[in-house]
Amino acid sequence: METLIANTASFVKQSLNDAEAGHDWWHTQRVFNNACKILEHERANAPVVKLAALLHDIADAKFHYNNEDIGWQKANEYLQRQNIEKEIIVHVINIIKHVSFKGGNTQQSFTSAELCIVQDADRLDAMGAIGIARAFHYGGFKNRELYNPAIFPRINMTPAEYRNHVAPTINHFYEKLLLLKDKMNTKTGKRMAEERHQFMLSFLDAFFQEWG
Ligand code: ADP
Ligand code: NI
Repeated sequence: METLIANTASFVKQSLNDAEAGHDWWHTQRVFNNACKILEHERANAPVVKLAALLHDIADAKFHYNNEDIGWQKANEYLQRQNIEKEIIVHVINIIKHVSFKGGNTQQSFTSAELCIVQDADRLDAMGAIGIARAFHYGGFKNRELYNPAIFPRINMTPAEYRNHVAPTINHFYEKLLLLKDKMNTKTGKRMAEERHQFMLSFLDAFFQEWG
């Protein structure tokens, strides 16, 4: 199993060579590490969690923003080539299909303890200092304003609205990042989210103070 995890890590690292920095190998590595930390305290199938954490963002978002199927298909092709039980493959693919936030208002049609952990691990990487860095990186990538006092945050968007609406990066904190703390699935995830949440609040305080 250790070899499979190590081989999968190499496969993902190679696939994400040159990927957009919000979803590059380093993001995957951080999510994997978060997932391993959560696993220390929660009961779940560790190989399923680890494989799903490694494969959850395998398709470079820069090229595949409008195709939600490429990622799980690529992961599926890879897993089929390994000597793994079918049940595990199906579970990992289900996690990959359901891990994303997309505005947070969609009904989830699949759930498992393992999905809960991977989802928490991924959400943690959108929070705290790393989350702030990723948000402004994304904003720069899309050439967004940092902040615009005349444009107010929107919540309760549909997945399509969430994907397509254009707003200053500060709004993203109110539309997603500050909501994540209360969406954490696991007790351990909640605990890890608390500090990162507080750090984002301090950042926003300082930002508005400096804005004047
Ligand atoms: P998810 O896969 O959880 O749906 P995304 O792919 O939408 O997340 O986002 C990946 C990273 O980019 C996250 O850190 C997220 O906060 C950031 N991001 C997404 N949308 C925006 C946005 N409109 N403004 C700033 N950052 C964003
Ligand atoms: Ni991710």
